[in-house]
Amino acid sequence: MKKIKLFDPAIDEREVKKAVKTLMSGFWASGAGGGQVQEFEKNFKKFINSKSCVSVNSGTAALHLAAALCDIKGKEVILPSLSFVSTAHAIMYNGGIPVFVDVNPHTLCIDPEEIKKKISKKTRCIIPVHFGGMPADIKKIQKLSNSNIMIIEDAAHACGSEFNGKKIGSHGDFVCFSFHPVKNLAMPTGGLISINSHNYKKITEDLKSKRWCGISNRKYADYDVDKIGWNFYMNELSAAIGLVQLQKIKKMNNKRKSIAKIYDKELNASKKIPFTSTCAYHLYWICVRDRKIFRKKLLEKGIETGTHYKPIHQMSLYKKSVKLPLTEKIAKEIVTIPIHPNLTESQIDYIVKTANRFS
Ligand SMILES: Cc1ncc(COP(=O)(O)O)c(C=O)c1O
Repeated sequence: MKKIKLFDPAIDEREVKKAVKTLMSGFWASGAGGGQVQEFEKNFKKFINSKSCVSVNSGTAALHLAAALCDIKGKEVILPSLSFVSTAHAIMYNGGIPVFVDVNPHTLCIDPEEIKKKISKKTRCIIPVHFGGMPADIKKIQKLSNSNIMIIEDAAHACGSEFNGKKIGSHGDFVCFSFHPVKNLAMPTGGLISINSHNYKKITEDLKSKRWCGISNRKYADYDVDKIGWNFYMNELSAAIGLVQLQKIKKMNNKRKSIAKIYDKELNASKKIPFTSTCAYHLYWICVRDRKIFRKKLLEKGIETGTHYKPIHQMSLYKKSVKLPLTEKIAKEIVTIPIHPNLTESQIDYIVKTANRFS
């Protein structure tokens, strides 16, 4: 039997054709961000209905640049510990101080009540993560911000998720997406920052310069460099694949939701991600009593599973005396099971039966 993968990008001949065409064109990348990169930004902006979009070469780069806009050096930044480590690295790259807080036990998104307890005079920024695609309560979190406290949403899991009837990416000042191959919208590598702040035009220019080594004021062959920048621009091959994926995202996310609905009804796990049509279900998590045995048994039966995530505050780089009881408990029990658009009906049925047998 073929192994059922935990993640599997859904591609067909359309992505293949576009990728080959791009390779044959010889135009593979441009720091100036023209060509298909620009087209992808335009189409993604329309998809999420945001004011502006700047693409980059990873979700990590998107978070890095967004944090670079928030003047966090020596200041505290509040984030959940239950996330991929890039959420915290973005703070460290910019000289900020990560302050980890606990999550809501139902959604596993950052708990606004816990944020309140950790806000201090040194707080400069909050980074909620839309965990697994489940929208964090941005409205409550926005109420905690002020002219001194900015919000960067980590929407790496939330391409196509919605909050209050609008797509994630259209609410906050800075919203960061990842298009890593495992994500709902897959590219070889890619990311994007959606900008909705009042000064979005200026910020867009600033980000475009920062993603290409600080280059600005380009006129013909002449240009200036007036700030430090990075080599973070998206390449044409990623954009080409992303453009096709964007045409299919609604259908792919609907498939994820239909699988989530079946899992919600049929999985016996004591605790699992809630079902809601506003979640894009990048991940489907359940809690099990003995994760080691559960994962081993499922692998023996040909089903890949994952652990998302080991909490960041338990990594040696970030180790602190902070206690996060819910995060620490969940982190021992959480397992992610396959929920990608390539799953067949019989595979979904098999996953349900096998998970129920060993959970
Ligand atoms: C929550 C979260 N934030 C950020 C990232 C970083 O994205 P990328 O891998 O595209 O750099 C990821 C990727 O796995 C993620 O899951």
